[in-house]
Amino acid sequence: MSLPVSIQDYRRTQQARIDEALERLSPPESEYPLTIHRAMRYSLFAGGKRIRPILCLEAAASVADSSPGVEVPACALEMIHTYSLIHDDLPALDNDDYRRGRPSCHKAFGEAIAILAGDALLTRAFQVVAEGTGVPAARQVGVVRELAQAAGTVNGMIGGQVADLEAEGKPVEEEHLHYIHRAKTAALIRAAVRVGGIYAGASEEQLEALSRYGGRIGLAFQIVDDVLDVVESTEGLGKTAGKDAAQKKATFPALYGVERSRRMAQQAEMEALAALEIFGERARRLRELAALIVERSA
Ligand code: IPE
Ligand code: IPE
Ligand code: MG
Ligand code: MG
Ligand code: MG
Repeated sequence: MSLPVSIQDYRRTQQARIDEALERLSPPESEYPLTIHRAMRYSLFAGGKRIRPILCLEAAASVADSSPGVEVPACALEMIHTYSLIHDDLPALDNDDYRRGRPSCHKAFGEAIAILAGDALLTRAFQVVAEGTGVPAARQVGVVRELAQAAGTVNGMIGGQVADLEAEGKPVEEEHLHYIHRAKTAALIRAAVRVGGIYAGASEEQLEALSRYGGRIGLAFQIVDDVLDVVESTEGLGKTAGKDAAQKKATFPALYGVERSRRMAQQAEMEALAALEIFGERARRLRELAALIVERSA
């Protein structure tokens, strides 16, 4: 009997799988105009954790033994996520000079190219999904719809980013804080598992379970991000620590304190795990990923 692969080795393998596919799906630096392709790759290959694409691959694996080409929608998620980080760091948004352990995109390439690199990654995400050939067109359309909705303004990432900016420096109500976190972060993480499920041909019941799991770990993810901003160092995070308090952001620690925020993230993890019951042993990695999201230190 082969020994079970540790979660650390599993992550490394999946990260390599994603990096290889991203390499293949991104225009080379030698493509004209060089600057935009350099900027896209600078941010894409800066050492992100690849949590969203890994969740996508694993959601597909919980539904079907093999899903040829599932790396493509997984990479689309990482492109959209990376675009959101480039724009989140711009002076007009969070004004952050440091990201993924290096100067943020606008620091390295200037604001104009950073804006365009974000736009280009978002656009590229939809192109690679449309060009994928692994599944019937109906599933591809389903993936496109999920990505667009999760990145959009109605309960999606941009809606959340707007609410996040507009809440700066103001007292925030509990319900509004939950909206911000659900929209700016949980929506794309929930979409990551839904996209994997849709691509692999999930049943209604399976998709419902994956959605619940994704929504809960998505919320936990942003709560932990807020906590780490308070308790970790800039070096450890690879992005500027302590910025949320400096910018008077609406965060879980600001409203509930660090300890209660941690417990709330654990509670969301428990709810996420409960949603996976119908998958039995097949969801082992999704369970491990939930724990990793809550226990991480970067
Ligand atoms: C950071 O996301 C932005 C949030 C939504 C909290 P990640 O913590 O996944 O960042 P990378 O991709 O690993 O850099
Ligand atoms: C980011 O939230 C959410 C996005 C949609 C990019 P944050 O502003 O807290 O993310 P970090 O801490 O800069 O990574
Ligand atoms: Mg932000
Ligand atoms: Mg930010
Ligand atoms: Mg943050």
